[in-house]
Parts: sequence; structure tokens; C-alpha cells
Amino acid sequence: MSVRLVDVRKEFPDPEKSGGIMVAVKDMNLEIREGEFITLLGPSGCGKTTTLRMIAGFEIPSTGQIWINDEMVNDQPPNKRDTTMVFQSYAIFPHMSVEQNVGFGLELKGRPKSEINTEVAKVMEVMGITELGKRRPDQLSGGQQQRVALARAIVNKPRVLLFDEPLSNLDAKLRETMRVEIRRIQQSFGITSVYVTHDQDEAMTVSDRIVVMEKGLVMQVGSPFEIYSRPSCKFVADFIGKVNLFPVKTLSVGEDARAQDRRGVEVSAGSADPALKPGDDALLMVRPESLVLSKAGSVDQKNSVEWGSGRVIKSVYLGSVIEYELDAGYDKPLMAISYDPVNGEFFKDGDEVSFSFSQRAAHMLPLR
Ligand SMILES: Nc1ncnc2c1ncn2[C@@H]1O[C@H](COP(=O)(O)OP(=O)(O)O)[C@@H](O)[C@H]1O
Ligand SMILES: [Mg+2]
Repeated sequence: MSVRLVDVRKEFPDPEKSGGIMVAVKDMNLEIREGEFITLLGPSGCGKTTTLRMIAGFEIPSTGQIWINDEMVNDQPPNKRDTTMVFQSYAIFPHMSVEQNVGFGLELKGRPKSEINTEVAKVMEVMGITELGKRRPDQLSGGQQQRVALARAIVNKPRVLLFDEPLSNLDAKLRETMRVEIRRIQQSFGITSVYVTHDQDEAMTVSDRIVVMEKGLVMQVGSPFEIYSRPSCKFVADFIGKVNLFPVKTLSVGEDARAQDRRGVEVSAGSADPALKPGDDALLMVRPESLVLSKAGSVDQKNSVEWGSGRVIKSVYLGSVIEYELDAGYDKPLMAISYDPVNGEFFKDGDEVSFSFSQRAAHMLPLR
């Protein structure tokens, strides 16, 4: 099933100002494809849950339209939309066994007992909880409870699955396992899914496409690769990971994107945001893992389009990686990550280093 949001806006009475309004979602346009796994990602309060609740029918847009396939569903109550919300694991019924929990929705629909048993068994097998059928929720681990919650949603074969931070109650390790599981299960059933999280790694792991939101606005929609390596603005670049941003002036865009840095040195970039025009002030983005450090003055310029020098002001050894901060005369320290320290070079605080990066690793984005 495809889901389409057309100029969807949601206003609430402003709790701070009597008679005032606050806009939780600002004229959002989004097309979610059949079978797609899409994630709404952004900081707390940016409008993710409100958007999800409007798709589910728990909130009605102030203006705009929500379409499921070829039907405008603004006026349909939640139970007519064939969408299902997956909540955090504590939403499973404590007084029912696992089997009863999973079969509950089908029971409500008045399906025959034999059909319920078959469907429940099938879904429980895919979820890897077949052995737990007779247990009660308080006899399950957090991860098992989450599987039950997911099984209970999937058994109804909804047209659209909606997830609101379903893993936020679990510990870090279990979250990592469960997000891979959620992706696997969504793929095996092919159900169109909308997932809400404020966790970048989670969004990267599960999504076909990510919608980055800020203050009720959609900042960018793209694949995890596009969002990470071609962010459309500083907010997205910062939110999705660590980033170095060099102030530059745009010389050319498109295939042959070039810029001039503040020293007047020309730099080539692998890509430039389509909003940029020659002459624009811009930011050249390089992720820390793409910033290559070497002993001062010894940069191998064969593969690098830009280089400079600085002094190590912080180095953190984490075993598999070393994280560096460099003072290179910019507003903020530059960040570099070097992998496999055993085979690489170690630098200490105070060391003078050169840095470089490949053209492919550099992306130009607008100043805004
Ligand atoms: N029922 C409501 N009444 C008033 N304000 C609300 C209501 N629901 C959400 N909001 C406000 O709308 C904004 C977006 O909220 P929400 O969608 O829950 O954000 P998120 O899920 O991204 O954290 C917040 O500022 C929140 O306080
Ligand atoms: Mg929320």
C-alpha cells in the first residue's frame, strides 16, 4: 500500500499562550511507496509522533490530505484504515499468554479458531518465539516481549505498519539485535512501514529511505547513503553524524563541482547540493573517517584534492579506532577518525600533522 501526505499541517493550541497556536507539522509532502520501509528521524519535539498519529487516524490534519492507495482517508477512523501501530513492548497484555496476545486481533475480528491457530503459529515461527507460546509476559525478557508485540501487529496483516520508537525501552545491545530483526521481518512480509526514531543508527539500519525532520519541517528525504554522504543542509549533516565543514565559495556545480577555500585554494568535490549556484557561499563537508592524517609535510597528494595542516589537541584511543581533534585554525576543531590503529600511525597531543581527503569524500552544501 502506498501512503501519501499532501500539504499536511497540524496545529495544536499553544500550551504556553492562551488562544495561541503551535504548529507541530508544517505542510508536509511525502510519498511512501508500496512495501517501503521509511523512517521519520529528528530530535524530540520535531513532529514525528504527530505525523505517525495522523497516518494512523488518531489525529486529524488541520489542513492537507492523507491518502492510502487511492483513497483519501482524512475522515476515516483508525480501525477503518487497516494500519497497525507497534508500541513499546509493555503494550502487550499482562494477563494473557503469548499465544493469546498474538491471536488477540484475529479473535476480535471473529476469525475461526483453526485459522487463528494456523496464523499465530506461522507468525510466531518467523519471529522465533514458537517455544514461548504458553508463557505470560512477565516470564519473558525485554527482547522477547518486543517480539510478541511485533507478532501481534503482523498477524493482522495490516496494509501499513506504524512504529513509534518501539525499541526505546530496551538496553543498547538488544536494540541493535531487534532493529536488524525488525528489518528482516518487514522484508519477509513486505508490509509498507513507517518508523519513528530519534536514533540515527537505528534509522540507518532499518530504512529504505529516511525523512529528516526539524521543527515540523521536512529537511531531507533520501536513502541512508544520501542522507549521510549528501546531506542537504548543515542541520542534516550534524544530526546524522560527526562532520567537518569548511567555509568555501562555489565556483562550479554538477559533475565538476569546484570551490575556493578561504585561502584562495581550489578544491574539487565529489558532489554539490542542487540548490547551489556558482558564486554562492557554501560549506564543504568531509566526514571524520574521510580526513586522512599524516606526519606534517608528508601528505601523499595523489589521491587528495585538498590538504592543510594542524596540531593534534585531543586523541582518544578506543581500541578499534582513534578519534582525533585538530586545531587547524577554523572556528571549531576538525575531527578525524583513524581505523585499525595497530597497522596505522599514532599521533599524540601536540603533534603537528597534515590532513587530506579524497574528492569523492567531499560534498558541497548550502550555508543555510
Ligand atoms: N496534543 C497536543 N497538544 C498540544 N501540543 C502537542 C500535542 N501533541 C504534540 N504536541 C506538540 O507538538 C510538537 C511535536 O510533538 P511530537 O509529534 O510528539 O514530536 P516528536 O514525536 O518528534 O518528539 C511538540 O512541540 C509537542 O509538544
Ligand atoms: Mg515522539
